[in-house]
Amino acid sequence: MMPAMKNKQIRLASRPTGMPAMDNFATLEAEVPEPKDGEVLLRTRYLSVDPYMRGRMSDRKSYVPPFAVNEVMNGGVVGEVIESRSAALKPGDIVIGQLPWQLYTAAGAGELRKVDPNLAPITTHLGVLGVPGLTAYFGLLDIGKPREGETVVVSGAAGAVGMTVCQIAKIKGCRVVGIAGSDEKNEYLEHELWVDRTINYKTAADIKSELKEACPNGVDIYFDNVGGSVSDAVLTLINKGARIPICGQISLYNLEQPDVGPRPQPYLLVNRALMQGFIITDYGPRFVEGVTQLGQWLGEGKMKYAENIVEGFENTPQAFLGLFTGENLGKQLVKVAD
Ligand SMILES: NC(=O)c1ccc[n+]([C@@H]2O[C@H](COP(=O)([O-])OP(=O)(O)OC[C@H]3O[C@@H](n4cnc5c(N)ncnc54)[C@H](OP(=O)(O)O)[C@@H]3O)[C@@H](O)[C@H]2O)c1
Repeated sequence: MMPAMKNKQIRLASRPTGMPAMDNFATLEAEVPEPKDGEVLLRTRYLSVDPYMRGRMSDRKSYVPPFAVNEVMNGGVVGEVIESRSAALKPGDIVIGQLPWQLYTAAGAGELRKVDPNLAPITTHLGVLGVPGLTAYFGLLDIGKPREGETVVVSGAAGAVGMTVCQIAKIKGCRVVGIAGSDEKNEYLEHELWVDRTINYKTAADIKSELKEACPNGVDIYFDNVGGSVSDAVLTLINKGARIPICGQISLYNLEQPDVGPRPQPYLLVNRALMQGFIITDYGPRFVEGVTQLGQWLGEGKMKYAENIVEGFENTPQAFLGLFTGENLGKQLVKVAD
């Protein structure tokens, strides 16, 4: 290890009430860890910030345990091996893993997956070829089951998951209507990703009537990333046999009180519709299938991806907070080191 190396880490300083803020995070100096036998020392290159981390900042039961106060935050990381005490990895190898938000991390080689930087840019393993891409792939294809000619509505359409859903639905021959929070995002969806129609939920005077106009044949699949009033509006338009993968509910993540809206059951009942939540880790045994197909579509030019990259480790909390104000087009990442 080089003598001048200093570590930094970002911890959960306090639990947020409502919308998280900068003072919920603390950036501290720390020792650079020494890798033990079977471990490697990694330099963090890119960090992923994701909406689900908001849930982990609260002391509530969910599908992943909450962060403890003062615990180092963690998430998807692309790192470079700079020292190795494992036969499986050597300095210069690029790996991904679920790792702490810090500059340098010692991790067991078995916790890491080596990636080939010549096959795809290393950031894609946190985006289109990583969890968001796989979430789009399995949520839409396994639960949504799109058929040619059907109408697919996607909320959070210009985010990492949403823009991949839009494109897979187009590949499957569907009419796609995307809902996002800015005109710039919607222009990207229509002009770059061949999305048929878009709606800006922040400026729509009457989202229900705009949706009705955009979906003259009703809605066969609603891929729900956001929940709340946007989803209430879409539900009024579902067709008989509609499928509704519940991927995320970001509009509710910062609420302190349960949200009560129109109840969905009557729409599901009369339309014999399916609404199903899913958590992507349950598809772990099929990840290779998903990554292979997504990689093929990218290679064939049938799919694109966008990334919003914030520079500098210290800006990680800001990048995370930006997810809740819609700063990102595509996957939100933090570049920590070259
Ligand atoms: N089920 C799973 O296993 C799984 C896995 C990954 C992600 N997810 C979920 O999928 C959703 C998308 O995740 P992602 O990683 O792709 O994030 P993302 O869409 O790239 O980023 C979040 C986006 O959500 C939108 N948003 C923020 N607050 C909103 C609100 N109050 N109402 C409506 N939209 C709002 C913003 O875009 P606008 O400008 O459009 O507002 C923002 O850019 C999230 O709900 C996430 O929790 C679920």
